[in-house]
Amino acid sequence: MENKLYLYPGLIRIWHVLNALLIIILIISGLSMQYSDPINPFIRFDLAVSMHNISGFILIFNYMLFIYGNTISKNGRHYRIQLRGLVDRLTSQFRYYTYGIFKNESAPFPVTKRMKFNPIQQVTYFMTMYVLMPLIFLTGLPMLFSGAFIRQLLGTNAFFVTDILHIAVGFMLSLFLIIHVYFCTFGAKPYSNFKSIVTGYHEGGH
Ligand code: HEM
Repeated sequence: MENKLYLYPGLIRIWHVLNALLIIILIISGLSMQYSDPINPFIRFDLAVSMHNISGFILIFNYMLFIYGNTISKNGRHYRIQLRGLVDRLTSQFRYYTYGIFKNESAPFPVTKRMKFNPIQQVTYFMTMYVLMPLIFLTGLPMLFSGAFIRQLLGTNAFFVTDILHIAVGFMLSLFLIIHVYFCTFGAKPYSNFKSIVTGYHEGGH
């Protein structure tokens, strides 16, 4: 079909659904561990810890496959940000999201096979996948494996700092998730992009 582009190959779709499910489990178990009443927890504490640890491990494995896939396939190209003119491109996309879209203007960066992400998507996907995800792993793994080691080597406060960083990055990822899902409704029809990540085909429109 002429205005249908195949943008999300099978492996990306499998990676994405697993990634989304695991992150949702991690957010729910993380929130339960941090906030719920110890006497009457949302999820029993030891269960929440196991859920969090196991999902975290599977997420790291899934993430490594994503990075490997992006390194050896053309998909990685979409994450390479051209710095020249970036501010102008971001401004133009921002203006579209906050004004143009409501005036039925056409998108400044229509989806093509060469450029499937608009500049705002490109920067946020890059920041999420190449900055926040490594940070959540790098703060989570040391707490799991060597809490005592961190305390001995860097002092008692180091564990606390690692923990706060982990929670702060977790918060940013949760925020990303909400904004990501909201912006995914800005397709040709509100459900078009959700259909795309299931079928692989982008439907004409924004
Ligand atoms: C309920 C959960 C989620 C839903 C419904 C969802 C939905 C979607 C949709 C519709 C797309 C295709 C449209 C587009 O490219 O913008 C997409 C792509 C993408 N999503 Fe999500 N998403 C979810 C969770 C996540 C999470 C938790 C992350 C990362 C932490 C994420 C990262 C990405 C990335 C990087 C892409 C582009 C993949 C590529 O083509 O290389 N998503 N998502």
